[in-house]
Amino acid sequence: DSIEGRYSYYQLKETADYLKENINCMVPKVAIICGSGLGPLAEGIENPIEITYDRIPCFPKSTVIGHSGSLVFGCLSGVPVVVMKGRFHFYEGYPVWKVTMPCRIFKLLGCSFLIVTNAAGGVNQRFKVGDIMMIKDHVFLLGLSGNNPLRGPNEDMFGRRVPSMTNCYDMDLRKHARKVVKQLGLEKKFHEGVYASVGGPNYESVAEMRMLSTVGIDAVGMSTVPEVLVARHCDLAVFAFSLITNEGILDYNSTKKPGHLEVLKAAKAMEGPLQDFVKEMVKFMGCK
Ligand code: 6GU
Repeated sequence: DSIEGRYSYYQLKETADYLKENINCMVPKVAIICGSGLGPLAEGIENPIEITYDRIPCFPKSTVIGHSGSLVFGCLSGVPVVVMKGRFHFYEGYPVWKVTMPCRIFKLLGCSFLIVTNAAGGVNQRFKVGDIMMIKDHVFLLGLSGNNPLRGPNEDMFGRRVPSMTNCYDMDLRKHARKVVKQLGLEKKFHEGVYASVGGPNYESVAEMRMLSTVGIDAVGMSTVPEVLVARHCDLAVFAFSLITNEGILDYNSTKKPGHLEVLKAAKAMEGPLQDFVKEMVKFMGCK
């Protein structure tokens, strides 16, 4: 047929059933997708069961040779969770319906919440490297230009044809996050803002950065929104934040260059506080 590829409900069910058989019937409540350099979040999981992507039926194949990525099941703050160590990016060549497939698996496994983290460039010039930006809304440039994971026949088993984007980033969760930030003394490093999702893999030109800044974008990155859309479609409550790993360059005279190493360094420095932040959010979700 002429319809683009997609996972059938049957395939997704097969994947979820395989996982259920391998996690002793544990039902994760919270799914966590770790961004660049934020993988150590998974290190704090109690009684972990790690399943590499290459063993999971129908799971997208990793493009990184010798590095499959994995799902880690276990407890965080006493709450059953599943952590995605290594995510799929559009710029690696995956279509968005593959990038977002794990979100439907999380739903089938019984999750109610999704936490998404990413490394992002600060467009807002008040943001410094190492700051955290809680995402309050997004501009899905990739989707607006036609790469939307919900494109194609609607999967009625998961959600509506035309999902609403109201309260996409759950208000109660954001309210609680502000409390946690105070509790952890992170106020000076904390912002709320709008995240723009682009396709990558290059960083933005100065003109592109200026455009993003003009339309009210605070941070820009190459992930997150596709997953969030599929999660909202099937009614997972979403909490998302960016770690600002480099400052966006809006000045034509600048010779600074964002680099992947810089991104990883910024992530490493914030490992501890981010782990605490996520643990507190998971604890709150566990009580809901
Ligand atoms: Cl500056 N741009 C994009 N698109 N993604 C990023 C980034 C910048 N910094 C980290 N990730």
